[in-house]
Amino acid sequence: MDVVVFENSAAVAAEGAKRIRALLGEKPDAVLGLATGRTPLSMYRQLAADCEQGRVSFAEVTTFNLDEYVGLSAGDRQSYHHYMNRELFDHIDIDQSNTNLPMCEPGGNPLSVGPRYEAAIRAAGGIDLQVLGIGQNGHIGFNEPTSSLNSRTRVKTLTRETLERNGQYFDDADGQPLVAVTMGIATILDATAVLLLATGQDKAAAIQQLIEGPVSAMWPATALQLHERVTVLVDDAAASQLEKRDYYDWVGQQRQRLQTQFDGE
Ligand code: GLP
Repeated sequence: MDVVVFENSAAVAAEGAKRIRALLGEKPDAVLGLATGRTPLSMYRQLAADCEQGRVSFAEVTTFNLDEYVGLSAGDRQSYHHYMNRELFDHIDIDQSNTNLPMCEPGGNPLSVGPRYEAAIRAAGGIDLQVLGIGQNGHIGFNEPTSSLNSRTRVKTLTRETLERNGQYFDDADGQPLVAVTMGIATILDATAVLLLATGQDKAAAIQQLIEGPVSAMWPATALQLHERVTVLVDDAAASQLEKRDYYDWVGQQRQRLQTQFDGE
């Protein structure tokens, strides 16, 4: 796991955008796994600006979002579908027919969404880069604590703490769905590479567990320790409980040195 600590959240967003631009430079038809929430917002803004200025193109990109609430229509302003349009897709040159979320419209059967979504990801050739945030309780997507580390896209019941935290985005608490469809942990681990972003003191405990804790379903993000190519971009506040912080900085310096010395060989 590569752990890179930045001074502030703006630097985390800039680095995240840089890595996505680099991937699309190499592979313009990449398949991206995308996340919602507060954390990736500045990175999406940066990518929208980059796209407007011709520094990156999403014209051939396919996307799969991590999760969606059950029973919200795409047009519902509280759905993740709406969030993605509002925060990213409406501002870039992506073909919206290549954007995917595990939607379960009102009245639909949520149990049938997972297998279809898994098949769609496979048909697209798999995810090249999965962008992740992390919940305070260590969830990734909506894989709440005690999720099977071998789970696939399916319905998850949200914990009370997640409902409370995400309740701030709903005008009316009664309209907040209690269940969601989320990619599973095994689905996330299938991605070729993973880019996890976390900022702020409230993520410090989850980040410490993710990087230094034992692999456990109680902190679902710890499953990422089993993946070969995970990069964690954090700000100082989110890194504040890391015990081996000095070591991660040291590793970064060595990586930089090797790249400078051997790049292009
Ligand atoms: C949400 C989403 C996750 C997100 C996480 C953190 O509930 N389901 O995909 O990464 O919680 O959200 P935030 O970035 O707003 O802290």
